[in-house]
Amino acid sequence: MEVRKLYLAAGLLAAAVAPLTAAPALAQDLTIGFSQIGSESGWRAAETTLTKLQAEERGIDLKFADAQQKQENQIKAVRSFIAQGVDAILLAPVVATGWDSVLEEAKDAGIPVVLLDRTVDAPKDLYMTAVTSDLVHEGRVAGQWLVDAVDGKDCNVVELQGTTGSSPAIDRKNGFEQAIADHGNLKIIRSQTGDFTRAKGKEVMESFIKAEGGGGNICALYAHNDDMAVGAIQAIKEAGLEPGKDILVVSIDAVPDIFQAMAAGEANATVELTPNMAGPAFDALDAYFKNGTVPPKWIQTESKLYTQDDDPLKIYEEKKNLGY
Ligand code: AHR
Repeated sequence: MEVRKLYLAAGLLAAAVAPLTAAPALAQDLTIGFSQIGSESGWRAAETTLTKLQAEERGIDLKFADAQQKQENQIKAVRSFIAQGVDAILLAPVVATGWDSVLEEAKDAGIPVVLLDRTVDAPKDLYMTAVTSDLVHEGRVAGQWLVDAVDGKDCNVVELQGTTGSSPAIDRKNGFEQAIADHGNLKIIRSQTGDFTRAKGKEVMESFIKAEGGGGNICALYAHNDDMAVGAIQAIKEAGLEPGKDILVVSIDAVPDIFQAMAAGEANATVELTPNMAGPAFDALDAYFKNGTVPPKWIQTESKLYTQDDDPLKIYEEKKNLGY
C-alpha cells in the first residue's frame, strides 16, 4: 500500500509539474490481486500460467484467487484484495453485469482495477482499463470464414455458446450473426451454451445431433471456444460422422489441441486469442504508478485466423508446452 501511494504521488506530481526531479520507486515492488474466473478451458489455464510468470519476472507480488466460475467468489476476492490494501487488481469477470458496487469500493479505496479478457456493463470510470480482444470481431472472422468456406451452398449451423451472460458469449454470437446476416444460405438451426468447457461442448453437441435426427443435416459447428469444439468433435465422431468434413468446425482461442484436430482434418479454423493479457496490463500499471500515465480505456489485443493451410502440426508443437 505504501508503495502504491508513493507511485500515485509521483504520478500525480508528474501530471502537475513535469519533469520529475526524483526517480519514482520501481514497479516491481507492487502487490497485485488477480481474481481469475476458474479453469474452464485450456486458454484460461494458459492465461493463469502467463500472468503468474509475468508477475514473477517483474518481481510483482501476485495474490491469486480462483473463483471456480462463480461471480460471488470473485466479488469476495476483490473485497479481500481491497481489505489487504493491494496496489492494483486484475479482474477477469465471469459475467458482464453485477460489478458496479465492488468496483465502486475499489475506486473509493484508490485501487485501480484492470479488466482482463472480458468486459463489464458498468460505468467506465469504475475501472482503469480493459485488456481484451475485439470479441465481436472474433465472431465476425469466424462467420466470414464459414461464408467463404461454403461458397453459397445451403448450410445449417449449430452454435455452442460460451458462458451465459459473459461478454465473449454475447459478443462472439453477435459478430458471427453479423457476418452471416446477408447470406441466406447460412442458417443457425440450434444454439445453446456449452459453458466454455469440453465436457459440456460434447454433451450439447450430442443433444444437437440427436435432435436433428442423427446430424446428417448439420453442415457446420460454430463454437465460441476451442475446448467446446474439441468436445463436440468427439460427439460428432461417436455419431458416425466426420468432423471437419461432414460437419465443418470453426471456433475461437487457438489452443494447441485444436491445431492437433486441424492437423487430423477434424477441425477447420480457429481465431487466435492471446493468453498474454497480463503483459499489457502490467505495462499499463507500471506506467501509471511510475509517472501517472493513464492508459486508454481499451487495450486491444490481436485476433488472427488460422486454418488447415497454416501447418497446424507445427503450431501444435510450438504451443503445446506454453501452459494451455
Ligand atoms: O474470455 C475469454 C474466453 O474465456 C476464452 O475464449 C475461453 O476459452 C475462456 O473460457
